[in-house]
Amino acid sequence: MNDDIRQRIRTIPDFPKPGIMFRDITTLLLDAEGLKLTIDRMAEAVDGPVDLVAGIEARGFLFGAALAVKLGAGMLLVRKDGKLPGATIAEDYALEYGTDRIAIHADALAPGARVLLVDDLIATGGTARAAVRLLRKAGAEVTQASFVVDLPELGGAEALRGDGIHVHSLVAFDGH
Ligand code: PRP
Ligand code: MG
Repeated sequence: MNDDIRQRIRTIPDFPKPGIMFRDITTLLLDAEGLKLTIDRMAEAVDGPVDLVAGIEARGFLFGAALAVKLGAGMLLVRKDGKLPGATIAEDYALEYGTDRIAIHADALAPGARVLLVDDLIATGGTARAAVRLLRKAGAEVTQASFVVDLPELGGAEALRGDGIHVHSLVAFDGH
């Protein structure tokens, strides 16, 4: 399924370190037809009305904004901490070494706003799960998330489902 999208995603072996197969969506973005197919199919999978699309910095902004336009929704930026100028609320998440922090503007969400979470890729799910915690803490109703690529061996999509999220992805890759 979605082989036309899969074949437009380039694999770069041993990046950023030996043994990692990097799934590179820049080749998909460069391809006008591929980009359109991607946004159309992400939109088809959306279930019910969406008030806001929340895109995760940085690559989630690309697909998130295009999808928001198509759905007639607004766009909420989930940014790396320290980038937003207004009052923020933040959430920490674990990295392989240390932690990172994402943030949104504290006044970005009306209570009960229906939010679709979007990112280019889900791997361990650490980033997406932190975004869900953050959005819920801010009063959003988050029940679905959409990704271009899933790396199921890393368990992120499964964990996100355990958080009560309908997870949709266009293409799954294994580790080789
Ligand atoms: C990548 C990817 C996802 C996240 C997935 O982003 O774009 O956002 O990692 O990993 P996880 O499921 O294990 O959390 P990255 O932080 O590399 O940065 P970028 O999007 O700013 O390029
Ligand atoms: Mg990212």
